[in-house]
Amino acid sequence: MTQNLRKILVTSALPYANGPIHLGHLVEYIQTDIWVRFQRLRGHSCTYVCADDAHGTPIMLRAQGEGIEPEELIARISAEHQADFQGFDIGFDNYYSTHSDENQHFASLVYIRLRDAGHIAKRTITQAYDPEKEMFLPDRFIRGCCPKCGAEDQYGDSCEMCGATYNPTDLVNPVSAISGATPIEKDSEHYFFKLGDFEQMLKGWISESKVQNGIASKLNEWFESGLNDWDISRDAPYFGFEIPDAPGKYFYVWLDAPIGYMASFQNLCDRTEGLEFDDYWGADSSAEVYHFIGKDIAYFHTLFWPAMLEGAGFRKPNGVYCHGFLTVNGQKMSKSRGTFVMASTYLKHLNPEYLRYYFAAKLGNGIDDLDLNFDDFMQRVNSDLVGKVVNIASRCAGFIKKRFDNKLAPALSEADLYQDFVKVGETIANHYEQREFGHAMRAIMALADRANQYIDEQKPWVIAKEEGKDQELHDICSMGINLFRLLMSYLKPVLPVMAEEVERFLNIEALEWQGDIKPLLNHTVNKFKPLMQRVEQSSIDAITADSTQTLSEAQPKTTKKPQKVKGGNGDEIAATIEFDDFAKVDLRIVEIVKAEHVEGADKLLRLELDLGDDKRQVFAGIKSAYPPEELVGRLTVMVANLAPRKMRFGVSEGMVLAAGPGGEDIFILSPDSGAQAGMRVK
Ligand code: MSP
Ligand code: ZN
Repeated sequence: MTQNLRKILVTSALPYANGPIHLGHLVEYIQTDIWVRFQRLRGHSCTYVCADDAHGTPIMLRAQGEGIEPEELIARISAEHQADFQGFDIGFDNYYSTHSDENQHFASLVYIRLRDAGHIAKRTITQAYDPEKEMFLPDRFIRGCCPKCGAEDQYGDSCEMCGATYNPTDLVNPVSAISGATPIEKDSEHYFFKLGDFEQMLKGWISESKVQNGIASKLNEWFESGLNDWDISRDAPYFGFEIPDAPGKYFYVWLDAPIGYMASFQNLCDRTEGLEFDDYWGADSSAEVYHFIGKDIAYFHTLFWPAMLEGAGFRKPNGVYCHGFLTVNGQKMSKSRGTFVMASTYLKHLNPEYLRYYFAAKLGNGIDDLDLNFDDFMQRVNSDLVGKVVNIASRCAGFIKKRFDNKLAPALSEADLYQDFVKVGETIANHYEQREFGHAMRAIMALADRANQYIDEQKPWVIAKEEGKDQELHDICSMGINLFRLLMSYLKPVLPVMAEEVERFLNIEALEWQGDIKPLLNHTVNKFKPLMQRVEQSSIDAITADSTQTLSEAQPKTTKKPQKVKGGNGDEIAATIEFDDFAKVDLRIVEIVKAEHVEGADKLLRLELDLGDDKRQVFAGIKSAYPPEELVGRLTVMVANLAPRKMRFGVSEGMVLAAGPGGEDIFILSPDSGAQAGMRVK
């Protein structure tokens, strides 16, 4: 190897421990994982750590809503997250939690160093307080009428109708989204990080082009509007770490979240021989550190984070790499359109490597949003991976087996073509290094086209039938297999599982990508097995069906009032409907003739409904409220003309109407006595 070995530490943003991993998240984890695998394949030392971001108010409230301790919630979610990541072959060296001893240690250390250097200020501020719940309310947990346009039920910081931004105290008729009580104003002492102390340092750090252009211009806007002190404390009750010298005050979740990168790394060092924390995080470290994040959290990673590191005597990252947001079929992910796809739902129906390839093909190093269009997805994967790449191997492997006992030829007939493929490898490597994965995939597919073209021209299937052309046939097919092997080396960061299967087929230790890759000659391969199936429309339909949320499943769980706290979960606000739309709904009184538990479903009951002239099966998310035996014989109201929906447990042929906040308080609608199964409502 001619290159110097690099020591690299890479992180992805720490996902919140209050919701499932979805395809939007995966843009980031797949992007990071490809880059990490690429570095390792090129022989560098590249350590990849992540963790769950476990602290903060939403997680605390969700645990309360479920009647469990936050520790139990975050343990469960962490297991789910890790299963999802494993499903997509995200190769973390360590996956940890911000709710850990290491993180408490580093959060306190950073804070104390900042305090001792004079970068922490204290002042009393006035905030909205929920007198019923006895807690201060984050802006997003206060709702009321927009002070500007009067729209009802808006968040405490901005109006979704007119776009105005304001303080929660400006809202007209504000209510707590947690208890429904009217918030009062209350004083409390808060701790602030004096970001302005670091303005010069930050300007220098950014000018060394540690961030992408789009982000740098955003940063300059932030500099112009002035760097404000950052509020890093929250009052009890709060799920987080108590501030060492301030009982009852906790670190704001965003203070200890990025410190979680260090904590996860420390935890890995503690069980890895030769891996030293200070080699990577010490002020004069020569290792490289990169953070991959979404553009929504750039502010935290390009201002607060480098300033905190500087102030506490640690090194700063070499780069903060932002990506854009995922849309599905051209729109924001939406539960009602079935495009809010969870990682686990995807994995039930499709090979994760399809998505890894599709994202790779679409990713550049900028911050543009990217779209997952299911038609395009199917077409891309089928034509590129199955139609081009795998095709090369399947066109050649049969002859190698049948005619040459699985042994490749002793020499390459087209050494120049092979060398061309090796040379383009350096261009491809450069694209990967620059995170221009789309360019890399296009260059690889252009090579795949050339390989197929070579086979088309040589026509091994014709030569195979001709007398005395054995050697020619052997040369062509050995050439094809060798080109295929180079392509799979270049694709290995994107398709690690398929690459392993190819290693088994080629009967080699590992596909390599360092220096000059020598061809496989006189080498015996194993039996060729089909490497990848085509994407079928039916699988995509099944994902959409599984991702379409029913009304009953969509009921919020914990609040008295429908809570619309946005957490990037893609839920839209329901629009009004016309009377004609309403008139289309066929509401019927039905008798529940059978009700039973559904194995494997935690919310659903299976109901058999008698409509008088018809029987239907419906799955309803009412298990938390009704033991099934209590339902049998009762009348209720159903939507009889809802399109049947295939669910994991069977087809649901309609929907029963229910109301209530959720949990034990869901009430199926029971008509007055005198009603009879089959009657129409309206
Ligand atoms: N917990 C914080 C990060 C703390 S890092 C010290 C957080 N968590 S998150 O779960 O909301 O998001 C995790 C990452 O996923 C973020 O980088 C975010 O930008 C990214 N994405 C979340 N939804 C996304 C899309 N729809 N599309 C692309 N990336 C998305 O933020
Ligand atoms: Zn408004």
